[in-house]
Amino acid sequence: MENTAKITVKASGTYDILLAKGGLQHIGQAAAERFKPCKIAILSDDKVFTLYGKTVMDSLQKAGFTTVSHVIENGEQSKTLDNVTEFINTMVGAQVTRTDMVLALGGGVVGDMAGFASAIYLRGIPYIQVPTTLLAAVDSSVGGKTAVDISAGKNLVGAFHQPSMVYLDTDTLSTLDPDVMRDGFAEVIKYGIILDRNLADTVARPGTFDLEQVIARCISIKRDVVEQDEFDKGLRGLLNFGHTFGHAIEKLSSFTISHGSAVARGMVIAAKVAAAYGYTNYTNAIAKVLESYGFDLSCPYSASDMYNVILSDKKRSGADITLVLPESIGKCVLQKMPAMQVLELMKKVRL
Ligand code: GLY
Repeated sequence: MENTAKITVKASGTYDILLAKGGLQHIGQAAAERFKPCKIAILSDDKVFTLYGKTVMDSLQKAGFTTVSHVIENGEQSKTLDNVTEFINTMVGAQVTRTDMVLALGGGVVGDMAGFASAIYLRGIPYIQVPTTLLAAVDSSVGGKTAVDISAGKNLVGAFHQPSMVYLDTDTLSTLDPDVMRDGFAEVIKYGIILDRNLADTVARPGTFDLEQVIARCISIKRDVVEQDEFDKGLRGLLNFGHTFGHAIEKLSSFTISHGSAVARGMVIAAKVAAAYGYTNYTNAIAKVLESYGFDLSCPYSASDMYNVILSDKKRSGADITLVLPESIGKCVLQKMPAMQVLELMKKVRL
């Protein structure tokens, strides 16, 4: 296919991430080049399926696949075990077998759920990610982390299960609400701060850069990290910059504060905590960039409330918590410390 860039991930499975601007109607062809004709169970949400469901199904059917679809309500509140069970029941009803596939058409919620359902259905079947949000494009669709939320916290039930293909048509981002687009920029800015000073400088000036190139750069960074640490034993933890505090904010807000907005606030808290711990203070530099995208960086919760949620976060190991702290812009480090010290540091800084 013309104008399709390819980034290949070599993890426990090898797969292509195809950047096919304007190419959603060719997804069937891309799938047919890689997979035998089979049944594809599409999981999508009501917003995305209305916009792109027919294009994807028509293209897959034209290329020799049969399709079945299951649509959930848009939003984080849908990322539940019950909804995974319902999707699995749809697959059972459609007689989806181990030689068939799942396809996630949507943002992070749909991608995480579809990935998890495909990890556990029949002890694992392959799946395709078709991210339609910036956040899913640069982060959640790549790397095989799949999960659902439970009442104790976000993403606490999940599995590592790499997709077999990621197909991104960046034109689908044009229909995003501005606040959903902004959410994605929190992750884009994150990549710059943790690992790439040039990217950080580029995205520090909103509206002045080529979004396709920035997305490709973020995906390449994620690919490199996942290839070195697929199962999140070390390096991959850097991708959680802002997420320990961000997940707590999301949870305490009952998910009325979106993931990107919570991560933006979390990155600023991490910068403050880093300074209180003894690192150079990058709080203002990080906050300035995030504010230029319109992020609200306030934290409406107390250190104690945040701490109680952080204790059930999966990034805790025993009595310790590993925080991602900025050593400079473009270089973050993993800093393990006793959980109580995190509480003390949060109390010390103004959240
Ligand atoms: N979103 C963080 C990771 O994939 O590791």
